[in-house]
Amino acid sequence: MSNPFSRVTTRVAYGASQLPRIAWYVGHGLAVRRLSETAQRRDKARPLAHTNLRVPDRKRLYADMAILLQQDLANIEAGLYPMPADHDGSLLTLLHRSRLFFNDLPAIHRRRESGSHNDVLTEETRGKRPRYYLQNFHFQTGGWMTDDSASRYDTQVEVLFNGTANATRRQALPQLHEVFAGRDQRKLRLLDVGCGTGRFLDSLKQVWPRLPTLGLDMSEPYVKHARHHLKRWSRINLTVGNAESLPVPDESQDAVTSIFVFHELPPKVRRIVFRECARVLKPGGRLVLVDSLQRGDQPDYEGLLELFPQNYHEPYYKSYTREDFSALATGCGLTHIRDVKAFVSKVMVFDKPLETPGGNGPCSLEPQSAAMHSTAQSDPHATSRWQPKCLTARASVSRSGNRFISWGAAITYPRNAEIYGENKLAEYLYKVISGAVRTYKILSDGRRQIGGFYLPGDIFGLEFADEHTLSAEAITDAKVLVIKRSMLTALAARDAGVAGELFALTGCEVQRMQERVLLLIKTARERVVGFLLEMAERVPAGNAIELPMSRQDIADYLGLTIETVSRTLTSLEDSAAIELPTSRRSIVLRNRTALSHMNG
Ligand SMILES: C[S@@+](CC[C@H](N)C(=O)[O-])C[C@H]1O[C@@H](n2cnc3c(N)ncnc32)[C@H](O)[C@@H]1O
Repeated sequence: MSNPFSRVTTRVAYGASQLPRIAWYVGHGLAVRRLSETAQRRDKARPLAHTNLRVPDRKRLYADMAILLQQDLANIEAGLYPMPADHDGSLLTLLHRSRLFFNDLPAIHRRRESGSHNDVLTEETRGKRPRYYLQNFHFQTGGWMTDDSASRYDTQVEVLFNGTANATRRQALPQLHEVFAGRDQRKLRLLDVGCGTGRFLDSLKQVWPRLPTLGLDMSEPYVKHARHHLKRWSRINLTVGNAESLPVPDESQDAVTSIFVFHELPPKVRRIVFRECARVLKPGGRLVLVDSLQRGDQPDYEGLLELFPQNYHEPYYKSYTREDFSALATGCGLTHIRDVKAFVSKVMVFDKPLETPGGNGPCSLEPQSAAMHSTAQSDPHATSRWQPKCLTARASVSRSGNRFISWGAAITYPRNAEIYGENKLAEYLYKVISGAVRTYKILSDGRRQIGGFYLPGDIFGLEFADEHTLSAEAITDAKVLVIKRSMLTALAARDAGVAGELFALTGCEVQRMQERVLLLIKTARERVVGFLLEMAERVPAGNAIELPMSRQDIADYLGLTIETVSRTLTSLEDSAAIELPTSRRSIVLRNRTALSHMNG
């Protein structure tokens, strides 16, 4: 968004949509605090919640809220999602929900004071849901089990988050962009685990309206509420089910999301649900969790993490704040990509590698580590294994040991399909998994100049400016791994290994350009011979090379005419340096020593 006028308009529109909501819910929060302090002074039934750890004051909380909102706005300005439509309903609906919310406060206060949280476990509900589920979470009436609780839920969460709950949920969207970008949304699948009243799915559909989506939750009333809230969207299914056994096949989802659910689960169930999420993800798929900060994430918030479960019935929160998600992910064959802080929450991102790294057993249901969780800073990728290679180096078709594999999304391009166009924004880096790719430029006189050929294992699309200087297209059907450039740069900023890899890759590009300049002073025969020797190195299959590109491609790469290329090949065959079998794509190198001498 470079136009200053549209930037101002966006900011005004954002302020107009978000500030009144924040004022509304902050107002509710202040009223609740006053009411509960009065009630507590009156009843004096239990000691006040207490912590010796650091607790952020109001000023700090508001400053961190502002950072979240700035991030939200930046995402909108970057086109990652549209101006949010929070769909809070009419003023009457808001007032109705507000009344429901305030009406429940006395009951919540009574439960909090007496420590009772089992009203939900009745003869009617017993056995219909797991025991851990049948509790008055947050001390709220009805737990997850009633219509009224579903109607109150959104107000409760927004009050708890000072009106930033939806903005927090939206922080999952940029992480999905990284795997969805450039792909046909109709062919992807997303599952939201513990979808509740469907607030996150609403934001998701505002970005990808045609994405086939499934929302699952164990609460019938919450799913009913979500159906109503999401009724304007198509290609969305909502189902009542237990996340411990997701009703979808193995490796069927491109993305799985789960928002504010994992802290509600007992440790063992948490790990089962995590394992289920990993099971249903396709290789190359992504799991995005949004949930509370954990211990060690934000020193100034440590006390808040202790106070929260004292004030709200959150029986599994403490164990959640110490869960080692990185270790859990590793045990389930996922890679912990990063954590992104979002006010009192964080977004945790995990990818399923295209190839499961060796040595991973099945997901362990035991705690991976008694120690406090490790954050993304103590990144499991700390030791770099990725070795970028220059085009002239011997290519290996092996995909193992390459860090790109676990971060990108694989896209298949049919023969001759464009991967990116000249002058288009260079937002991604690409790695060939199978097939072959060429980059090229159409010159002003209509001639095509091929910049390079990319074979399995090669990386392309690296630019020194913001736009692509060449176009890229598939020579044959090609499977290509696509990774967002901004993500790589962010990783490089905190991981010296990645920075080194990018530096080495840049060096390869410089070397490639130097070699092309030198090519121009060579004779036609030297160019063709040099090309054959390079291909023999990059497609190591003995002396018989199967070329994926046509004679025209070779000519456009070497800056020769197709006739010159054909004539040179025939003369090389006449001199017994090569043999040209009947297939026009095969060339057998008969005398490499002679060819090396001809290479100039
Ligand atoms: C705090 S709410 C979060 C709802 C929603 N994701 C959001 O963004 O507000 C937790 C949700 O998890 C659901 N839940 C808890 N345990 C579950 C389980 N084992 N299987 C499915 N849903 C579960 C609850 O019914 C509830 O709707």
